[in-house]
Amino acid sequence: MKADIVIKNISQLVTMEGPDRPRIKEEMKNIGLIENGILAISGDEIIYVGEGELPEYIVTCDETLIIDGTGKTVTPGLVDPHTHLIHGGSRENELSMKLNGMKYMDILKAGGGILSTVRATQKASFEELYTKAEKSLNTMLEFGVTTVEAKSGYGLDTETELKQLRVAKELNERHPVDIVSTFMGAHAIPAEYKDSPEKFVDIIINEMLPKVAEENLAEFCDVFCEEGVFTVDQTRRILNAAREYGMLPRVHADEIEPFGGAELAAEIEAISADHLVAASEAGMRMMADKGIIADLLPATSFNLATGKFANARKMIELGVPVALSTDYNPGSSPTENLQLVMYFASLILRMTPEEVFTAVTINSACSLRREEIIGSLRKGKRADIVIFDSPNINYIIYHFGINHVDIVIKNGKIVVEKGRTKGAF
Ligand code: NIG
Ligand code: FE
Repeated sequence: MKADIVIKNISQLVTMEGPDRPRIKEEMKNIGLIENGILAISGDEIIYVGEGELPEYIVTCDETLIIDGTGKTVTPGLVDPHTHLIHGGSRENELSMKLNGMKYMDILKAGGGILSTVRATQKASFEELYTKAEKSLNTMLEFGVTTVEAKSGYGLDTETELKQLRVAKELNERHPVDIVSTFMGAHAIPAEYKDSPEKFVDIIINEMLPKVAEENLAEFCDVFCEEGVFTVDQTRRILNAAREYGMLPRVHADEIEPFGGAELAAEIEAISADHLVAASEAGMRMMADKGIIADLLPATSFNLATGKFANARKMIELGVPVALSTDYNPGSSPTENLQLVMYFASLILRMTPEEVFTAVTINSACSLRREEIIGSLRKGKRADIVIFDSPNINYIIYHFGINHVDIVIKNGKIVVEKGRTKGAF
């Protein structure tokens, strides 16, 4: 078998070997580490992962690109399973409000926050949304992310929700990063339905969901289940209706208040519950029982500046599979930098570097139902690979705030070199 690319002498090769399912407890510490590793790619597929030299049945020729991995760490392409990638405008005006003590939910209640991004997104053209999201996607790719989830939810009317999802669809077709779409019409209650939220829930169920399904625009459905936004009952109704259309449930759960979001996620067997800063222990236990993935978003907690963070250690101890994500959005988490999230996860959530890498590879791939294709490096899986200019995984976490990526390979092609995207896509 002929190799197109070989990476050899790899100081640390993180394979994430093991079953294609969420890793829990002690399993999260086993990253299948190989020192002096070697990896071969043919087309868009991994054909060999091991130590030392290639076996004889893998041949190289003049065209084979040989990359020297001395002093480098090689991992699966990172997966960011929770973002609000496509939106109009920005919200730096909220910085001074926040510094003056105004709370995130109070800004929303006053008609700002998510609702101000809704206005900007409604106004923006398809092309404007596309160009802005493409720029963010390039940044994510430069940070090593090869698959990303993207939610709608800044339309809150049928046309704008569809516009966001159509942008995601076109980006997925044209940009190397894979985009997995989530319909999140239930992201906030529009001002005109403030006193009749049930009517808005009816619109989501009877108008939006059928249209999203008709164009096949989303694999998942998400709801902001929170005090003052969507109740547990409304969330259940929306997510059950979405399931009828084949959209799998995920939940923004217990971000600010303990609200029964984790319990609901377990009850309806959501794929993931996200945030979970205020989740109850009973809710976490229910999630562990059902194998619901906790997508934790420490950059959001850091940026909300309340000092409260999800209890990752408790979740791991109880057997909840943990994934990590940027939650990239213009309000609570304006950053595309998953490596910074990994730093917060380690230093603030007290996750070990091994647990962190499990969370951003195989567990986040599971959160997007892509575990059979990506999330680990083994023969037959897709060649989505990051080469970090770091001698080991600890260094990537320890030397924080910068981008450690040297090369990104997506579908067997080099798309990032020296940490920069190679031209326009
Ligand atoms: O996950 N909490 C709800 N949604 C986003 C924030 C969206 C925004 O502030 O624009 C989140 O944090
Ligand atoms: Fe979010």
